Amino acid sequence: MAANQAEAPILEALARYADADGLGFTPPGHKQARGADPRARAVLGDAVFYGDVLANGGLDDRLTRGRVLERAENLMAHAVHADHTYFSTCGSSLSVKAAMLAVTSPGHRLLVGRDAHKSVVAGLILSGVEPVWVEPQWDTSRHLAHPPSAAGYAKAFAEHPDADGALVTSPTPYGAAADLRSIADVCHRLGKPLIVDEAWGAHLPFHDDLPSWAMDAGADICVTSIHKMGSGLEQGSVFHLQGDLIDPAELASRADLLGTTSPNVLIYAGIDAWRRQMVQHGHELLGEALELAARTRTAVEAVGGFHVNDAKDFCGPDLAHDFDPLPVVMDIGELGTTGYRAADWLRAHHHIDAHLFDHRRISAQLTHADDEQTTTRLLAALRDLADHTTELRDVPQVAVPSPAELRMDQARQPRDAYFAQHTKVPTAEAVGRIAAEMITPYPPGIPVALPGERLTEPVLKYLVAGVEAGMFLPDAADQRLNTVRVVEEH
Ligand SMILES: Cc1ncc(COP(=O)(O)O)c(C=O)c1O
Repeated sequence: MAANQAEAPILEALARYADADGLGFTPPGHKQARGADPRARAVLGDAVFYGDVLANGGLDDRLTRGRVLERAENLMAHAVHADHTYFSTCGSSLSVKAAMLAVTSPGHRLLVGRDAHKSVVAGLILSGVEPVWVEPQWDTSRHLAHPPSAAGYAKAFAEHPDADGALVTSPTPYGAAADLRSIADVCHRLGKPLIVDEAWGAHLPFHDDLPSWAMDAGADICVTSIHKMGSGLEQGSVFHLQGDLIDPAELASRADLLGTTSPNVLIYAGIDAWRRQMVQHGHELLGEALELAARTRTAVEAVGGFHVNDAKDFCGPDLAHDFDPLPVVMDIGELGTTGYRAADWLRAHHHIDAHLFDHRRISAQLTHADDEQTTTRLLAALRDLADHTTELRDVPQVAVPSPAELRMDQARQPRDAYFAQHTKVPTAEAVGRIAAEMITPYPPGIPVALPGERLTEPVLKYLVAGVEAGMFLPDAADQRLNTVRVVEEH
């Protein structure tokens, strides 16, 4: 049956529930806002509570006979050319783990780009899957990692032919995209599935001028956050499947193992609404966003001390394959300050939050929600920042180690090291010890150190200098990094 993309089954079911004046003697206990604290209602608005209904036995009946979720998932699959789509209310952090567990199993190997997000590493720890790390393509002059090449995956498969499949992150949070078609070809020549962590690529299917997306490039499973570049609510994530290398029921079962039994219908509604919006208006909305991004990039480049990274900087042999211009990545090294300090200043003085920030960059993520008004405000703030750099220069410098120095030996498997007896040692004494924890600058969330890696002096010095300069390490047991959690060795 032809898909009617004008429908939005979840939104429509919510509207029907409201029209019918549905009355639940079920969770959620606020019962359509009536029991919510009036102070919460004043801040959140009652619409939040009205839309927060039980999925089965509220939105749909107890046996899901209305096929509300299934119909919404099918429409999404149709929109992005997938065979199956699954909605998740637990972020891509869940989706990526479900994908990994459908492709491989405990004790088996999976090829993983070392620029993977911490949720992938969490998946390795929880499952006992052994990573075969594939090196990103390093831009050594910019201290930036782009996705690994197809040749990198081919080499890793040649060295580990028993690996069950591969995982690549594309686009990166910086907007750099991998050559997905070639990586999928490498995998499929060997009959192995490819997972693409496309958390940053929800918008890619809906405009030709954006990098190609995983399903069109032939990937088997693709994970996408609808809340990042899309207009869904936080935690809204989908994963798509195509081809016959992975059993759809098994993938659903893996997600069921990890997910909540109380999915938030508001999050489902946000995903459903995004799909319809994009199918009907995505080309126009994203076309406008791309034009706005081009104008904004030119204007930022003209601000003294700012350099906007574009395709010329990111793409080329041994660099990224393609590039998404919506994350506007700004190199502010010339201003003599750090991205951390600049981000704090923008928030304090202009109530503007930058997205990524590191020792020399900040980024402003643009989406179809932006317009001249928002970018004018951004530009005014950036010009003001450039005018105030003398007061921002008093910052600790962060020397980033070379790519070779950043890579540490995986002395034990992530799971073994994470669950091993561990102890806390002063950071200076952690050199040569095996990490028992993840240490991840956030954003972007790519672990610098992960359980099982033998810690080295350059990496620890870099992290300590980073913390001094304002780097945030949310997952380290000691976020100030005075101590590090290491494996007890006898
Ligand atoms: C590459 C990548 N994958 C997965 C995730 C996890 O996504 P979520 O925040 O939707 O759980 C993130 C989050 O930043 C990410 O950057």
